[in-house]
Amino acid sequence: VILVGTEWENLPGYVPIENAVIITDRNLLRLYGSRFPNYPVISIIPGENSKNIGVINDLASQLLDLGLDRKGFIIGIGGGVVCDIAGFLASIYMRGIGFGFVSTSLLSQVDASVGGKNGVNVGHVKNILGNFTQPEFVICDPRMLTTLPEDEYLSGLAELIKAGVILDPELLQTIEQNIISILSRDTLILTELITRAVNIKAEVVRQDEKEKGLRMILNFGHTFGHAIEGQTGLKHGFAVASGMKIAADISASLGLLDNVEKERLTNILREFELLKDYSISNEQLKNYISKDKKKSGDIVNFVLLENMGKAVVRNMTVTDLLDQYMKVTIK
Ligand SMILES: NC(=O)c1ccc[n+]([C@@H]2O[C@H](COP(=O)([O-])OP(=O)(O)OC[C@H]3O[C@@H](n4cnc5c(N)ncnc54)[C@H](O)[C@@H]3O)[C@@H](O)[C@H]2O)c1
Repeated sequence: VILVGTEWENLPGYVPIENAVIITDRNLLRLYGSRFPNYPVISIIPGENSKNIGVINDLASQLLDLGLDRKGFIIGIGGGVVCDIAGFLASIYMRGIGFGFVSTSLLSQVDASVGGKNGVNVGHVKNILGNFTQPEFVICDPRMLTTLPEDEYLSGLAELIKAGVILDPELLQTIEQNIISILSRDTLILTELITRAVNIKAEVVRQDEKEKGLRMILNFGHTFGHAIEGQTGLKHGFAVASGMKIAADISASLGLLDNVEKERLTNILREFELLKDYSISNEQLKNYISKDKKKSGDIVNFVLLENMGKAVVRNMTVTDLLDQYMKVTIK
């Protein structure tokens, strides 16, 4: 169950047994640790670099030291990094024990904590070791987002906007109409928006858990986004925002998307200052896109838009995609 708007202090009510351990990162521990319920706490160094098998190994050995057995339970309190690590560890510790999350970043509330994917990176290649295992609960308390650094918050908004763009025109409209209260992190509006985004992702995942078809539309903006993120180090959401703009531009150039709707998306991304300058050569783009693990052979399942709220997947060759990219980016 995904509980949006539930106060995180109610966490103990959702933990099925006493034998539980909290995994969190040091930022969350500093900000919220004094109010954590009374379970042993293990904290990791914040950030993507912690998402590796060495950290999983360390954590497993700490769980053993704490005497956590196969009836134990893991609570992940943190953003996407903590959720990915805690979920992956729980899914393999003693062949799998129960786990639940308090999802604390906007990105993890709208995206990472829904869908049952978890895992760690190998070197710089993301999410190479992992599996699909569902948490028993996910608490998304929007009040926690008030302590999130500004760039993390804005970055998370990109995935929220994406949810509206691919499947929910009403969500997109609500975002357009509430820009100021969203920027001021108003809890009421955030509860509404996160609920909608979670429901959208949950429905897509319900219909296609293992990413054989429909789930691909969640990758909207990510083909170019991942390349930009990898090459420039821009934060995920900012890179995806540029990726969404490119995908919308290509959709319009192919005659699928109306220019007015294309501009509408660009305007929303601008309002939240999500479109940053970056530079990436065609050669670098080609390298990233050719290595994308969601590609099969030379074919990329590229997500295009027919309208706001209506995404479609098209098979395109890497060469075609790069040609289209050049066409829409030539000034
Ligand atoms: N499993 C999935 O389906 C899925 C989906 C999307 C993303 N992800 C993964 O999620 C990760 C990114 O998640 P993220 O953006 O949440 O990164 P993150 O977990 O590193 O959190 C970002 C930063 O914000 C801090 N933070 C988190 N919540 C806070 C709060 N309430 N107050 C103050 N600081 C807070 C963290 O300590 C960290 O420094 C990536 O590794 C990505 O691969 C997974």
